[in-house]
Amino acid sequence: MMRRLREGLLVAALVASPGAHAAGEVTVYKNPHCGCCVKWIEHLQQNGFQVSSRDVVDLSEIKARYGVRPYLASCHTAVVDGYVLEGHVPAEAVKRLLQERPPVKGLAVPGMPVGSPGMEGPDPQPYNVYTFDDKGDVQVYLRY
Ligand code: CU
Ligand code: CU
Repeated sequence: MMRRLREGLLVAALVASPGAHAAGEVTVYKNPHCGCCVKWIEHLQQNGFQVSSRDVVDLSEIKARYGVRPYLASCHTAVVDGYVLEGHVPAEAVKRLLQERPPVKGLAVPGMPVGSPGMEGPDPQPYNVYTFDDKGDVQVYLRY
């Protein structure tokens, strides 16, 4: 009986898992005066993500809470399905993250590279999307 119940719960959990959706729901913590954050949010929405945003005056507290080290920091910090997104991470990279589900804390695009989503400009520069973990270890995930 217990076993049946457990199997039933497992099936329910699989059906309800975020992987069943095309894209996750993103919560963005941002500075109220930052325009590029809004453009990044629009980029995510255009790529099928549901996004809610919260204006925060002191983002350093949020970054500390989510393990974003200073060398990874950008203008906004977001969470999706238990992962942290720091900065102008392309939607494509977020989708790959949610599919592959690597054992990391999240993705970061440090700084604000011109040419990243929300930072469009006449002179785009190459940039990397990094994974980072609890210890602050960083690896290149995607290059743009
Ligand atoms: Cu920005
Ligand atoms: Cu921003």
